[in-house]
Amino acid sequence: MTEGLEGVVAVSTRLSHVDGQAGQLILAGYAVEDLAPNASFEEVAYLLLHGRLPQPPERIAFAQDLAARREIPHVVTGVLREAAAVKVPVIDAIRMAASMLSLGRREDPLEDAMTAISSLPTIVAAYRRICSGEEPIPIRSDLSHVANYLHQLSGVEPSPERVRAMETYLNTVCDHGLNASTFTARVIVSTRSDVISAITGALGALKGPLHGGAPGPALDMVFEIGTPERAEALIRARLDRGERLMGFGHRIYRVRDPRADVLAQAAERLYTSEDRSLYDLARKVEVTALRLLRERKPDRQLDTNVEFYTALLLHGLGFPAELFTPTFAIGRILGWSAHCLEQLREGKLIRPQSAYIGPTGLHYEDAPARVT
Ligand code: ACO
Repeated sequence: MTEGLEGVVAVSTRLSHVDGQAGQLILAGYAVEDLAPNASFEEVAYLLLHGRLPQPPERIAFAQDLAARREIPHVVTGVLREAAAVKVPVIDAIRMAASMLSLGRREDPLEDAMTAISSLPTIVAAYRRICSGEEPIPIRSDLSHVANYLHQLSGVEPSPERVRAMETYLNTVCDHGLNASTFTARVIVSTRSDVISAITGALGALKGPLHGGAPGPALDMVFEIGTPERAEALIRARLDRGERLMGFGHRIYRVRDPRADVLAQAAERLYTSEDRSLYDLARKVEVTALRLLRERKPDRQLDTNVEFYTALLLHGLGFPAELFTPTFAIGRILGWSAHCLEQLREGKLIRPQSAYIGPTGLHYEDAPARVT
């Protein structure tokens, strides 16, 4: 038996390959450091959903199709208003809203996937605006997927540099083997359930701090440290208390997560020379954390994971921490969707076994309720 299914291969996929020993991530044939900083979100979406990069006319038609699905039903906005009134956390609110994308669906997995990919930024941005006491900003079909998301959050048309940084981020996190949320999505559709159900379940799995919920706490740690000379003492204190350092360690990678490098470079480009201090502090925190983790866990090979630089990049883009995990979802929904399509095409019911460790030989007659 393998607790937590560590090392168990459960499905075959053409979508991504994670080599934890070499520190490599391949996305449908392309190295993450080649694809993520160069391709548009729409190109990566096409690649994952259709197995190859689009020809120029296909790219245009695909981008138009995706853009045409951004509007969300009024009833979904109504639910977001209700959720905001009782301060439901963003990730829970978007999970509730995502489940409602079944309204008017056409029972077609690719249609469901396209609608969910396109609508999720609208849901996140609308909820953010409503929570801030502002009205949602109307969608702009003339903007790219990423530019529209940034515009819907702030009402300001983003610069090409900001769009590129966000696009690099979303492409970097779009898929990553059989991570917990993708596994959840595949398990759900493996019963021949539907893509919207799978995405709803995947959002639930992503929420936890051991998966998509780490970047907020990772940034909190950098802020708490505040200045480079405090890094050593504060990180030591955390480890002494038995705490885990968020943004470090990974189930698969035994070397540095290659996505951390892609995002570190994107973050460095984003942080200008004036406000570089946070970037430099984060670098110092990273170096110190790695040294102390090696000292404490010499056998474990704990290294920086994607969440550490996610936090820095999204903060640099002006995102509040509560949008970190929802924005991760806006990228990872590509992988969830593509895995669902692959599972529906080629997969088998996913149904592992459990090892029973409870008692045996008990008799109902002896139960306390039966004794008079
Ligand atoms: N800080 C301190 N110690 C750690 C860390 C960490 N970040 N990660 C693992 N360890 C220690 C554990 O305490 C454990 O020690 P022990 O054997 O003395 O009990 C040992 O390393 C092994 O830990 P496991 O939980 O078995 O390792 P696993 O491979 O299952 O965990 C995980 C991977 C959950 C990501 C873990 O490294 C962690 O909790 N990291 C912090 C949270 C984080 O950054 N999550 C984001 C991951 S990336 C993503 O999901 C997109």
